[in-house]
Amino acid sequence: MKGLVLSGGKGTRLRPITHTSAKQLVPIANKPIIFYGLEALVASGVTDIGIIIGDTGDEVRAAVGDGSHFGACVTYIPQEAPLGLAHAVLTAREWLGDDRFVMYLGDNLIRDGITPLVDEFRRESPDAMILLARVPEPQRFGVAELESGRVVRLIEKPPTPATDLALVGVYLFSSRIFDAISQITPSARGELEITDAIQRLIDDGASVVPHVISGWWKDTGHLEDMLEANRIILDGLERRIEGQVGEDVRIEGKVVVEKGAQLRDCVVRGPVIIGPGTIIEDAYIGPFTSIAGDCLIRRAEVEHSIVLASSRIDGVRGKIESSLIGKECEVRSRPVRPRALRLMIGDHSLLELP
Ligand code: TTP
Repeated sequence: MKGLVLSGGKGTRLRPITHTSAKQLVPIANKPIIFYGLEALVASGVTDIGIIIGDTGDEVRAAVGDGSHFGACVTYIPQEAPLGLAHAVLTAREWLGDDRFVMYLGDNLIRDGITPLVDEFRRESPDAMILLARVPEPQRFGVAELESGRVVRLIEKPPTPATDLALVGVYLFSSRIFDAISQITPSARGELEITDAIQRLIDDGASVVPHVISGWWKDTGHLEDMLEANRIILDGLERRIEGQVGEDVRIEGKVVVEKGAQLRDCVVRGPVIIGPGTIIEDAYIGPFTSIAGDCLIRRAEVEHSIVLASSRIDGVRGKIESSLIGKECEVRSRPVRPRALRLMIGDHSLLELP
């Protein structure tokens, strides 16, 4: 069985981060989201993995390499444009051949992994299997209707959902999916939708079985989703202090300080992870914060946030919270008057000021 990880897409909901970077490489607890998916695939015994890439392909290649780090063998499959999930499957047709495969959306996180459903798919050999989770607001998702243990209908974001079973970003297919995709046309938003292709399979009498998961999962399309994923993953950390920690530092709770990080005159209240080469000085780092490597946080307070590599936060009055700060950003104070805000921010940025 093969794995197909989707790491193209537009990433409009996460601009401006996605103007320059792949959404799938945003770190959750200092590890790129896509790594969690790759690890889950390998843990389920799927090691022959194709990764669909788009404009940010070079960065994805640089981060994942040949996959040997994960115990996988990775092939990169460029998609000409983000024309939909079913289009991505079509793009991989030659590489997939007649093999059965798991399709994993590269921006999804499923805490308990996918091994039970991959095992079930191997054992039962249906034409397709979809992963479902009960959600409080099904109208925001693709929703499945079941009858006698089979999927009978999939509806994208229904205003009055018939069930609370939302589609999670992992699907298992036989090569029968290609016939279904060849029969669908682009949706109103101009994409070849995988839900339309699965509905086609159902209408053609194929066996499409559901697998309902009870554990936590997240589709990290928005900032709030990233922060929530970060919260959940950080909460599972074990305390590990390998960097240099001064005597004037107070560390509380589950905190990871990577080797090469330096902490001086600060309070760190976990769960928190601090990457290698990062300096924290005269500062407070509050719960649910991930600070990547080579950052400087000085005379500042940061909580419930994700800070990417090589950024500096220096001398900022007032706490920074619920924020996502990109790579090599700088947030600093300016001592000279007038006390005005001076901004240089990229397109589609968001600043919320008190
Ligand atoms: P989405 O999050 O549905 O789409 P997107 O990444 O374009 O984001 P936005 O809606 O904010 O503009 O995509 C799910 C995953 O599939 C994500 O990892 C990107 C990937 N993808 C592709 O690889 N090719 C595609 O054509 C599409 C639509 C998505």
